[in-house]
Amino acid sequence: MPEDLLTLGIETSCDDTAVALVRGREILADEIASQIADHTPFGGVVPELASRKHQEAMLPVLARAMESAGTTPDDIDLIAVTSGPGLMGSLLVGVMTAKALAQGWGKPLIGANHLEGHMFANMLAHDDLEPPFICLIVSGGHTEIVLCRATGQYELLGTTRDDAAGEAYDKASKILGMGYPGGPVIERAARDGDPDRFAFPIALRGSHEIEFSFSGVKTAFRTEVERQRASGGELPVSDLCASFQRAVTLALIQKTELAVRRTGVRRLSLSGGVAANSELREAFTALAPKMRAEVYLPPKRFCTDNAAMIAAAGAAAYARGARSDLRLTADPSWSIW
Ligand code: KG4
Ligand code: ZN
Repeated sequence: MPEDLLTLGIETSCDDTAVALVRGREILADEIASQIADHTPFGGVVPELASRKHQEAMLPVLARAMESAGTTPDDIDLIAVTSGPGLMGSLLVGVMTAKALAQGWGKPLIGANHLEGHMFANMLAHDDLEPPFICLIVSGGHTEIVLCRATGQYELLGTTRDDAAGEAYDKASKILGMGYPGGPVIERAARDGDPDRFAFPIALRGSHEIEFSFSGVKTAFRTEVERQRASGGELPVSDLCASFQRAVTLALIQKTELAVRRTGVRRLSLSGGVAANSELREAFTALAPKMRAEVYLPPKRFCTDNAAMIAAAGAAAYARGARSDLRLTADPSWSIW
């Protein structure tokens, strides 16, 4: 982690407009304008609406971050912005803002990768988390198991064939009519539920591949909800949610174990919005004794999208010699493996 650069981070890849000021592991400001309330009526993120909301929020969030850190443009050494992956119209707002600031203030610019950012979120929180480690990235758009050999050297060990883990939570919540984002709602409803009541499928359980599939559990969930509704009784919401959460968690944990066995790497990191889920956090923590692994969990505020992780990832890329210039464009499917 480069210690001396004061980096301005900008993140607009999905539905959070975020700006942070970071030096090494020290976070001087970390501001977010969430659009959740705007997207809730639609049961998910509406891309066109997201980019318009980023336009409105971008400069006020930047001003708040500069003010709360007591920073002037002169103090800033580097501007880092998420340039992919993500929604094109959303990414463009951050990228155009960063380019304008870099040109106006005469500062170097670096395009940062959103998934590398999620991996850095946990490194920001834990001084002793150093590569090599295995990272399980679980968010609304991603479900990946990555081997980080060194910063900047990533190998994709496995991903999902269909839905992302967070997307599965969001769809389950939509089926129940319980709103967006689904993860926190399902987790709350699952609290007093019986996770063994419904045996939802744990996809690819017997497969020797590191891969996920969440469309089957979603369909089984929908079918069970319809069956219960048709039977006319009260919907056993807590048991449905607890059983669903159990199936998703077990799939994630089993493939993480497989990744440990396959690589021999015994340092494990978790990141992304679904990393806020308590059952997943407990199951991940239990891998420490079971797999003789060191386990690192991000604080909840670093699970979901933020700009501090982008500043950290951008500063590290810059220190490795990566450079962007004013021709930087958004790349919605930028892959680092
Ligand atoms: O990382 P994130 O903020 O945005 C993306 O890059 O997608 O992740 C958002 C996702 C949503 O799908 C949301 O339902 C899920 O993370 N999520 C959770 C929890 N909190 C957020 N899933 C399960 N349990 C939670 N407590
Ligand atoms: Zn994310």
